[in-house]
Amino acid sequence: MVQGLLQHWDSYSVDQHDTWRRLYERQIANLEGKASPLYLDSLEAMKLALTCNEVPRISAMEALLQSTTGWSLTVVPGLIPVEDFFKLLAQKRFCTSTWVRRLDQLDYIEEPDMFHDTFGHIPPLMNADFAAFMQRFGEVGSALVEAGEAEAVLGLQRLYWYFVEFGFVRGADGDPELLGAGIMSSFGEANHAWSLKGGLRPFVLEEVMDTPFRTDVIQTEYFLVEDVVELRRDLDRWFATFNLSERA
Ligand SMILES: [Fe+2]
Repeated sequence: MVQGLLQHWDSYSVDQHDTWRRLYERQIANLEGKASPLYLDSLEAMKLALTCNEVPRISAMEALLQSTTGWSLTVVPGLIPVEDFFKLLAQKRFCTSTWVRRLDQLDYIEEPDMFHDTFGHIPPLMNADFAAFMQRFGEVGSALVEAGEAEAVLGLQRLYWYFVEFGFVRGADGDPELLGAGIMSSFGEANHAWSLKGGLRPFVLEEVMDTPFRTDVIQTEYFLVEDVVELRRDLDRWFATFNLSERA
């Protein structure tokens, strides 16, 4: 099991706080008129802990999550094994790194940093429907890992990629809006994704699970989720076909 680390907040340099501020200010302006209310309302609900002013404190974000949807945060050094990731999600724990990219990495980093992990991923966990999806995703993933269903686990990783990282959601006025953390935390990705919003694929679970992805190139395909609650139901229906429900 993953051992959570501590965030050494006092160790951040003036330059790191400045990099954070630049990332935040540039992206919040960029997302105006593009991001879904699910994301923006959640970010607003976190404004006491997640602002442009300074690198955020994990403990402050966690306190807000705890009092809203009951989620916790675990500090990790980087990517962790998928089985551990599923288990943490099932326990309503999300992982975050605490390192901040350098100023010359404003536009691109190979590995997710704290701006991606916190600005991108954490706000939607304040939303009850999104948080419920994430927990169920973790439960289903844990059960399928335990059952040795490798192909199904790969399908779940694709679901995560095309929804949690790079998903669009249908807005109240019927238009697509940005939600995925990989989009929300990247200036270039947000603009690229937005330029392709006229050609989104419908988020049909089985099709998404059959669509490979690459982490080393900009995305060429994006999917549009109609409704987060309905997506959780689709996941449950798909999972039920494995007849493992007693394990999850
Ligand atoms: Fe991510």
